[in-house]
Amino acid sequence: MTKIPLPDEAATQALAAKLVATLPADKSGLLVLLQGELGAGKSTLARAMLRHMGYSGRVPSPTYTLVEPYELFGVTVYHIDLYRLSGEKELEYLGWDDLRDGLILLEWPERVPQLQKQADLLVQLDYDGAARTAALTGLSARGEEMLGHW
Ligand SMILES: Nc1ncnc2c1ncn2[C@@H]1O[C@H](COP(=O)(O)OP(=O)(O)O)[C@@H](O)[C@H]1O
Ligand SMILES: [Mg+2]
Repeated sequence: MTKIPLPDEAATQALAAKLVATLPADKSGLLVLLQGELGAGKSTLARAMLRHMGYSGRVPSPTYTLVEPYELFGVTVYHIDLYRLSGEKELEYLGWDDLRDGLILLEWPERVPQLQKQADLLVQLDYDGAARTAALTGLSARGEEMLGHW
């Protein structure tokens, strides 16, 4: 596990840049879990990762749409928010199996604990007063490989 202090939002953006830099060349099928309380910075991190992957348009929160797709050069990124989901069965309504080829940035993985088994990287964001901390855990060989570059 790699722990990173995030004193301000700029630090969260820098973490996003570093995460993007360590993504494997073949990003398809990579599942990154963004876990933490409301306001911990999950959407901020996902938004900044999309920017660093070259997306310059608007990045709305997927709270109501659940899935926001982004066609980027060489990969489709799915920004997902499971906050309003109540279990594994409902993942089917999202067309989960059709999303698995993309790079998935997923908020509120707690809603479907079974996702941990499929995931590559867990980014746990926590409050530290007004600041935040991130804890990165590799959940697969690909995830561990990313952390090896830290
Ligand atoms: N490292 C940080 N330190 C302090 N505030 C931060 C940090 N990172 C993000 N923020 C702020 O915290 C809030 C996070 O909101 P958001 O990203 O929507 O959280 P979440 O998606 O986890 O609910 C934003 O207002 C953002 O400006
Ligand atoms: Mg969010």
